Amino acid sequence: MGSQTRSSLSLGTPQSQPSHSGYPRISILESNLVLRYGCWLPWKIMDDWPGYDLSLFTYPQHYYGDLEYVLIPHGIIVDRIERLAKDIMKDIGYCDIMVLCVLKGGYKFCADLVEHLKNISRNSDRFVSMKVDFIRLKSYRNDQSMDEMQIIGGEDLSTLAGKNVLIVEDVVGTGRTMKALLSSIEKYKPNMIKVASLLVKRTPRSDGFRPDYAGFEIPNLFVVGYALDYNEYFRDLNHICVINEHGKEKYRV
Ligand code: IMP
Ligand code: MG
Repeated sequence: MGSQTRSSLSLGTPQSQPSHSGYPRISILESNLVLRYGCWLPWKIMDDWPGYDLSLFTYPQHYYGDLEYVLIPHGIIVDRIERLAKDIMKDIGYCDIMVLCVLKGGYKFCADLVEHLKNISRNSDRFVSMKVDFIRLKSYRNDQSMDEMQIIGGEDLSTLAGKNVLIVEDVVGTGRTMKALLSSIEKYKPNMIKVASLLVKRTPRSDGFRPDYAGFEIPNLFVVGYALDYNEYFRDLNHICVINEHGKEKYRV
């Protein structure tokens, strides 16, 4: 792999440490933004964060009674993505970028991220050329492992050879999906691969994988909204919310 390939376990640079001035009461402790794995943790939402009461926001009526609370309101998501775009441009905005959106959950994040990247690029001295492609993943579960992964859709991945690839994913849980995807893509010898994930989940099942750019670190909860689904439901919800037991039961397959 070229000298520009991603360093594993990195989460952006110290400069990407988010400023949380102006955002009320989100339980993020400065002390948690510690240097770990050689870089800063993403914006961390603590386990005891109670969330926002659903009555504070509007959301589709067909989900009334199915949600526990709002974990991250839509406005904060979009504001945070703007900052991620700035960090990404600062790090890799000197080269042309191939954005690889992991469907379906990554489509909202990818759309908003690309919009912000375009805005920054348009207003800077050097216009960065961006191409966007979309893939879906199908994993082979041999003995519950996800070592093999089938990539569906997208252009012929051999076109990634020599390119600077930015993978855009919705959430990293155990990290196994992303690790499998990375090893599939590395075969095509891109010049650089970076991973941006909107969410990183704190789970004891984590294999330690960390994206290069992460929007929020969240507790080990199942979340929906902003294109994240539960059995294909809730993608049409703007805020990232925690689903309740009634919702899980109602949309169980
Ligand atoms: P991992 O392999 O455990 O990292 O799982 C990552 C994939 O599982 C993501 O790309 C999501 O599609 C899905 N996923 C994990 N957690 C959630 C969640 O809380 N809500 C919706 N999808 C999730
Ligand atoms: Mg995903």
